[in-house]
Amino acid sequence: METIFLVLLSACCCCFWGSSAAFSLEERSSHLSLEKTYGRTVKDSQCRHMLKHLHNGARITVQMPPNVEGHWVSTSCEVRPGPEFLTRSYRFYSNNSFQAHQFYYEDNHCTKPTYTLLLRGRQRLRQASWIIRGGTEAEYHLHRVQMVCHTADVATELSQRLNGSCRGAAKGHWVPGVAYELCSEDGGYNFSRELNFAMHELQLLRLERQYTHNADHLVEELFLGDVHTDPAQRLYYKPSSYQTPLQNAKNHFHGCIACRIISRSDELHPPILPPRADPAVGLYGQWVSQRCEVRPEVLFLTRHFVFHDNNHTWEGHYYHFSDPVCKHPTFTIYARGRYSRGLHSTRVMGGTDFVFKVNHMRVTPMDSATTSLLNVFNGNECGVERSWQVGVEQDVTVTNGCVALGIRLPHTEYELFRMEQDAHGRYLLFNGQRPSDGSSPDRPEKRATSYQLPLVRCSASSQSPGRADDGDTSLRLGNGGDGRHGGGGACVMAALLALSWNWQN
Ligand SMILES: *[C@@H]1O[C@H](CO)[C@@H](O)[C@H](O)[C@H]1NC(C)=O
Ligand SMILES: *[C@@H]1O[C@H](CO)[C@@H](O)[C@H](O)[C@H]1NC(C)=O
Ligand SMILES: *[C@@H]1O[C@H](CO)[C@@H](O)[C@H](O)[C@H]1NC(C)=O
Ligand SMILES: *[C@@H]1O[C@H](CO)[C@@H](O)[C@H](O)[C@H]1NC(C)=O
Repeated sequence: METIFLVLLSACCCCFWGSSAAFSLEERSSHLSLEKTYGRTVKDSQCRHMLKHLHNGARITVQMPPNVEGHWVSTSCEVRPGPEFLTRSYRFYSNNSFQAHQFYYEDNHCTKPTYTLLLRGRQRLRQASWIIRGGTEAEYHLHRVQMVCHTADVATELSQRLNGSCRGAAKGHWVPGVAYELCSEDGGYNFSRELNFAMHELQLLRLERQYTHNADHLVEELFLGDVHTDPAQRLYYKPSSYQTPLQNAKNHFHGCIACRIISRSDELHPPILPPRADPAVGLYGQWVSQRCEVRPEVLFLTRHFVFHDNNHTWEGHYYHFSDPVCKHPTFTIYARGRYSRGLHSTRVMGGTDFVFKVNHMRVTPMDSATTSLLNVFNGNECGVERSWQVGVEQDVTVTNGCVALGIRLPHTEYELFRMEQDAHGRYLLFNGQRPSDGSSPDRPEKRATSYQLPLVRCSASSQSPGRADDGDTSLRLGNGGDGRHGGGGACVMAALLALSWNWQN
């Protein structure tokens, strides 16, 4: 119930800002500059610098409507709910047709290909999305889908599985390295249900361009719609957020080895990424978002986390915004609690289970619209009744959270983490993707099987200001807070660490 209400509430706020009646709100929010926001709460100077840098979006431009013509590739081994491990290589042509390769693997580093889907069809851009600001809606039609298996075992298994659900789908025994037709316009077999497969990601797009460092290298990133966290819902889900972006194969980030390998592959020669070790998840230190993140249901945010591994406590700052470049703050949340590390995930290769508890929270409304919403609530449900003021923080622990924001305390979440080092040696931290239905992973069975966009370590110390912080490569390499190189960077996600808006379930 509350979830539904909140979704409406948040959707509503966002319409205000989208309309021309927004001027007074915009003016007000500009008084509470981001510099001040982060300055007050983020003590570590490097972390603060990196967060601020996210908002100097000057070097990033968004093309609307997007011209997607070209060849786009994954920047790393991607993990989809299930889990499924895959890489993508999509080509869009000027006549609106596309050809998409999806390469599937049995392992989390994409070193062992199992099968490839080759999809051909047409895509047509519609209009700027009114649900996801900054996105463009599109529709697509598949003409032809082929599958190539890369091992004999996979060929046998898949042909039997597909044949079982639709007699005659697989004529004869499949062998590896041969393309088999799965579905065709002329009423052929439709495999979507059997494989829980849909290309609905083509219904939402965003194209970002940015110049790296020396301003001499243009990188283009294509964000496509997200995939539902429940595989059974995929066929019916309209994207409301994004996946990890693809990069233009013509001018990807220099450090992107995966881009190069993937761009040269085809269905008979699937990309095989270099094997690597899974670094043990070491949560200590401080971590920040690499970009303005998008959450389903119209929330834009940046995150900053501090983990104290000496006593297994954590602190999280969630900065929410009304716009897709995170310029206009709406409210911030500070939360803290305890965490405990579990075992290696038995479901998701390369992942580690954690349990997070939240038992303390503070909220700061950052614009007048959010402030009024908080003041509408009666009773002892979110801080002191009708006392909210723009820019003034309140502790809502005593009211067991904040009903207006859908947050009940204390709260427990079952998390999935993994770590990775990017091309610059910086540590990236991935935590579980939030369930697409807006619920919270408050039971072990609801633990994620895929990840959000990664956070980058901005300080190896969990202590506050100006420590030497030596030994952390991000400090040396990341000067300028350059959160923009490939590094699995991405924009999609949306979601807080252990917390989100939807804690009440
Ligand atoms: C569109 O262009 C591509 C590449 O030039 C070509 O392979 C394809 O056949 C064209 N499709 C249609 C429907 O004209
Ligand atoms: C597919 O099903 C048909 C009819 O049931 C059967 O004759 C054929 O052997 C099956 N093919 C495979 C590869 O299992
Ligand atoms: C296959 O079935 C799915 C689910 O019913 C449907 O959405 C899709 O359009 C179908 N594809 C084709 C090519 O008929
Ligand atoms: C945990 O340790 C950190 C850093 O040493 C400290 O700031 C914090 O107060 C401690 N928290 C608790 C609950 O002991």
